[in-house]
Amino acid sequence: KLSTCLITLTTAWGTAAQHPHLEEGKWKAPGANDCAPCPMMNTLANHGYIPRDGRNITRPNIITGLATGLNFKEPLASLMFDMAIVANPEPNATYFTLDHLNQHNVLEHDASLSRTDAYFGSNHIFNWTIYEKSKAYWTEPIITAQMLANSKLARQVESRAFNPTYRFTADTENFSLGEIAAPIIAFGDMALGEVNRTLVDYFFVNERLPAELGWHKKEVAIGVEDILKVSDMIKAATSLITGPDQSNSGNKRDLHAGIH
Ligand code: HEM
Ligand code: MG
Repeated sequence: KLSTCLITLTTAWGTAAQHPHLEEGKWKAPGANDCAPCPMMNTLANHGYIPRDGRNITRPNIITGLATGLNFKEPLASLMFDMAIVANPEPNATYFTLDHLNQHNVLEHDASLSRTDAYFGSNHIFNWTIYEKSKAYWTEPIITAQMLANSKLARQVESRAFNPTYRFTADTENFSLGEIAAPIIAFGDMALGEVNRTLVDYFFVNERLPAELGWHKKEVAIGVEDILKVSDMIKAATSLITGPDQSNSGNKRDLHAGIH
């Protein structure tokens, strides 16, 4: 694994210098500037679907990059750009850089699956120890929404217990649900809410699309409604209550409260 971005800098730079016009879509080890807290932004940069140097990422770059890499529809990609652009501190900015995404508690947040909290170290470099902790909850070869939710909850409990600066707002939760849904959206079955663990693992570890494992982008383009649907599955799966009747639990609680 390319464990730190600095270690790979020399090689990546050497390659780029020798082949300045690397073919689009061809994966290349990351350079110094594509160390984002987002494994997919890094991946798309490594493939050249967004600028390889991680700089000046514009709305058209995101639209083209997410369409080429993952078959996202334009309105979805455009919405994601709108969410990302707040990371550039300049007013009325028209681009962001991958570095911008590292600002703690802007978009980047605590309790990530594959990065440690800013309080403990780098909030954007892939962290084996943290990743292994998350992966421990992906207990079957086919990962379910519930297994992904379990890894999210575990990371939050650990952060809340040991990071005195732990912060996770309602906005963070919405952003986080989208991230936890992302492996199912990119690599899995959105109707079943499942994804092959080997594909997800390959993606996180290599920051590369798992084409060599037989994956290919979805044939039907992915829209905002798909993201919301899978995020809702994750949200439902974060409930720690068991039993079939969760939707009626409100009434039961009221009755219980009335008895006491
Ligand atoms: C995490 C930004 C698109 C998958 C993140 C984080 C940021 C971010 C700032 C860090 C949050 C944290 O602290 O964990 C963006 C931007 C995008 C984008 C600006 C596009 C404009 C995507 C897409 C996918 C994706 C299309 C996959 C379908 C993920 C995953 C994480 C993540 C799985 C969680 C990583 C972890 O918990 O270790 N993203 N993202 N992202 N993103 Fe993205
Ligand atoms: Mg984080």
